[in-house]
Amino acid sequence: MSSIQDEGRLPLAVVGAGAMGREWLRMLTTSPVARVAGVVDLDLDLAAETVRAVGLGDVVIGTSVAEVAARSGARAVIDVTVPQAHRPVNEEALRAGLPVLCEKPLAPTVAEALRQVALADLTGGLLMASQSRRYLGALAAYRTAVGRLGDLATVHAQFFHEDHEPGFREQMAHPLLVDMSIHHFDQLRYVTGQEPVAVRCDSWNPAWSWFAGDASATVQIELTGGARFSYAGSRCTPGLQTSFNAEWRAYGERGAASWDGETTVVADLDGTDPKAAAGPEGIAGSLAEFVGALHSGRTPQNEVRSNVLSIAMVEGAVRSSALGGERVVIGDLLEEALAQALADERQEDVLAVLRGWTSAADGIATPAWGSAPAPIAAGGAR
Ligand SMILES: NC(=O)c1ccc[n+]([C@@H]2O[C@H](COP(=O)([O-])OP(=O)(O)OC[C@H]3O[C@@H](n4cnc5c(N)ncnc54)[C@H](O)[C@@H]3O)[C@@H](O)[C@H]2O)c1
Repeated sequence: MSSIQDEGRLPLAVVGAGAMGREWLRMLTTSPVARVAGVVDLDLDLAAETVRAVGLGDVVIGTSVAEVAARSGARAVIDVTVPQAHRPVNEEALRAGLPVLCEKPLAPTVAEALRQVALADLTGGLLMASQSRRYLGALAAYRTAVGRLGDLATVHAQFFHEDHEPGFREQMAHPLLVDMSIHHFDQLRYVTGQEPVAVRCDSWNPAWSWFAGDASATVQIELTGGARFSYAGSRCTPGLQTSFNAEWRAYGERGAASWDGETTVVADLDGTDPKAAAGPEGIAGSLAEFVGALHSGRTPQNEVRSNVLSIAMVEGAVRSSALGGERVVIGDLLEEALAQALADERQEDVLAVLRGWTSAADGIATPAWGSAPAPIAAGGAR
């Protein structure tokens, strides 16, 4: 039986052939670490058209993850479906022994994310969120600069955009917080190495907005180190556009550092500005980490248990806004989400795992994939 390591380029099934699925397929045509074996979508005509448009020749197309993987020899899954479909798609893949790299947001709610932690516990498979905006050379340089500031007082980020994206985003209740701010909140965890303690938020929809839900928000997040994150954003602001990565400033005991969200990092503390790190960026970066984790057995960034906290920041903001800006404590939110997960879950084996946790905090502290030295067998099962 061959192992993943013997394969050269890891054969993948890409699930979801929409706008972002197309970006993944295009990137994969030149990837040194993986190749497309199969494409899955509920809409077979769309899947065939996307495969043709990106110039892929011989790939298996179908509507079922397990069936396409079996026919194509795919050994892992990239889930690029809409957020509501992530849990069922990831469940089908993990139960078929296929590790999954899932587009953000891994789940629309923390309760759904916790059900997927339990599923990962149960199957022993790797489930990782693709938080692709962590993989930027300039962001790594900004993290280095922020790390030299000493204790942090305030981290500030602003995101102002004019986004026209007909489809699920323009119908969401929170197109900024749920679809976009998840990137920035996750980047905050990466940059500071600190976790969220509590969230306050005010979200609204400007009168001229073409979104159905709240396209604008201000958010304040307390971090474990005592610093405050101050965030302002909007997706319906046609002027002075920021980077998709937002514009950042951090102030600490030894100085300050800024990042324009693109290539410019400034460290105002000792006259040396850090240089951007080299390496694959964006979705190619998250793919490299996923495949590297399968080869090495190391726990990747944004393995599902860790990613729960990025989702919790978003849900905390949404909840705070609904409560008129009340302070939402992340620890309390996690425990309420576990109660919801227990109420929603219908699979007895997943329920048994959830019931076995003493708390949600205990659940996300369970040993992550890669923390046990078990070898990877063919098909991604361990
Ligand atoms: N990382 C980024 O910067 C970035 C950018 C854009 C989108 N995304 C994420 O990518 C995901 C997809 O976004 P999109 O814009 O491509 O959406 P989309 O609506 O264009 O495409 C989603 C596709 O998934 C298919 N699908 C839905 N349910 C399915 C199921 N159960 N099985 C198989 N196929 C199914 C749909 O038929 C559709 O073709 C979302 O999670 C989104 O947040 C990430």
